[in-house]
Amino acid sequence: MERQTKILAVAGKGGVGKTSVSAAFVRLLTESYPDARILAIDADPAIGLSTALGVEVKETLDDIRKSIITNVESGEQKAAIELLGEARFRIFDTMVEQQKFSFLAIGRPEAAGCYCKVNAYLKEVINLLSHDFDYVVIDGEAGIEQINRRVMEKVTHLILISDPSVKGTRVIDTIKGVADDLVMYERCGAIINRIEDMSMVPYIHVEGTEVLAYIGNDAKHQANDIQGRTVFDLPEDAPVIVGAKEALEKLDII
Ligand SMILES: Nc1ncnc2c1ncn2[C@@H]1O[C@H](COP(=O)(O)OP(=O)(O)O)[C@@H](O)[C@H]1O
Ligand SMILES: [Mg+2]
Repeated sequence: MERQTKILAVAGKGGVGKTSVSAAFVRLLTESYPDARILAIDADPAIGLSTALGVEVKETLDDIRKSIITNVESGEQKAAIELLGEARFRIFDTMVEQQKFSFLAIGRPEAAGCYCKVNAYLKEVINLLSHDFDYVVIDGEAGIEQINRRVMEKVTHLILISDPSVKGTRVIDTIKGVADDLVMYERCGAIINRIEDMSMVPYIHVEGTEVLAYIGNDAKHQANDIQGRTVFDLPEDAPVIVGAKEALEKLDII
């Protein structure tokens, strides 16, 4: 019997800890399932997951897209996507094969303002590659665009990250509202991150999403990031690792 791929996507506004949590998920999955096929996708043009995971990226999905598109006179989306199927081997080439996981970055399209083409690719890639992996972890772009554009349609586990402020948690309420229509998720949960004062936890208000974990502000985590160290350098009891673990356990993933 074929096991269903678990596709985890991490979403939320900018700077709330999406990349930190995504990297922690990848680490925890590699630790829990050393023999599983795990794919980490950096879907944020702002980039960061590669650094958090200690991966060197040579070619991105956008690079592949551009080189394929030179073969298509108009660069029409449909034709390009058909070609993408043929270019699957190149994606496998591009995936940096770490010891324990594969890695794909969408890259940073420089064309002014619009990521829709690479997002359309990303959607196909998620559909195409997910069959080859047991776990896919997607570090999403800040905001709601990739959910709106159904890039995240096939995601099975949607994890929404927020800071503890009402401004922040309202954003996850909004994302959840849109995701309810556009993402075929099995489970959705929230993580509240960078809580300065844990005694405030009872006052944190999240409308319609189960909170999977509350994570405190951790100076060591920030120092780790400032020094360009990876998630694998964090101690096992680092708040982000502990919180991410709690979330994966509540989602019945580990
Ligand atoms: N729990 C935490 N404690 C302290 N700093 C954190 C914590 N989580 C994230 N950070 C810091 O916040 C910044 C943004 O985190 P990041 O994971 O890159 O967010 P995002 O991917 O949502 O933009 C980084 O400098 C990171 O080191
Ligand atoms: Mg990020």
